[in-house]
Amino acid sequence: MTNKNNSGSFGSSRGLLNKIKKDKKRKSSSTRWIGRQLNDPYVLETQKRGYKSRAAFKLLQINDKFNFLLPGLSVIDLGCAPGGWLQIASEKVSSIAGNEKVIGVDILKTDDISGCKSIIGDINDKTVGDDLIELLGQKPDVVLSDMAANTTGHRQTDHIRTTHLLEIALDFSIENLNRNGVFLAKCFKGGTEKEALNLMQKNFSKVHHVKPDASRKESVEGYVIALGFKGK
Ligand SMILES: C[S@@+](CC[C@H](N)C(=O)[O-])C[C@H]1O[C@@H](n2cnc3c(N)ncnc32)[C@H](O)[C@@H]1O
Repeated sequence: MTNKNNSGSFGSSRGLLNKIKKDKKRKSSSTRWIGRQLNDPYVLETQKRGYKSRAAFKLLQINDKFNFLLPGLSVIDLGCAPGGWLQIASEKVSSIAGNEKVIGVDILKTDDISGCKSIIGDINDKTVGDDLIELLGQKPDVVLSDMAANTTGHRQTDHIRTTHLLEIALDFSIENLNRNGVFLAKCFKGGTEKEALNLMQKNFSKVHHVKPDASRKESVEGYVIALGFKGK
């Protein structure tokens, strides 16, 4: 397989999976999960490259397509743990320790990543947005949100909960982005996201749906990128 722009696809490991399948005591759902991990070339490549998460490839691939993370830009990453997107964003915008231009927040603790600062906080809490802007010391050029609510297994409930996070991230972006700024967010298809999409169309010059190769085909996960913020 070819490796496009350093963010493409890679090899896999079958022998170990066959061994695991023969272990009769293991629950079939966990066997399926392990099988998926072992067969997933991105998992191996994540470890090789020292990325904090497999999700790093999703941002790399979206950026390959839209080339919006440019040197000198400032970035706020909502739902940043464990930190794969922070790593990619800081590399692309050339953010350095001591003058961090990439700031993240998550309800979970994020590991320290050079060129980035992160705080623990819930984006539902209004003061968290102010804390992020204060830490960045300016308005952001790019807002990223890979936030996802914990899944319940009930498709419609999961959709509503993740769309709620998308709406909060969008409100934060409209309130704070620099003119011409970019908003990229996780977006589950399911119907209730329409209002958020309308708001994006109104406030940005272009809105695109994108499903990077690293996002599993069977998943309802997708992303929406809004380019050219028109200003408040
Ligand atoms: C898919 S993970 C993000 C992975 C990250 N982009 C990376 O590359 O490592 C989604 C994150 O959203 C966070 N999250 C969910 N709800 C949140 C909220 N209300 N406020 C802040 N973070 C939240 C979760 O804790 C989780 O770490």
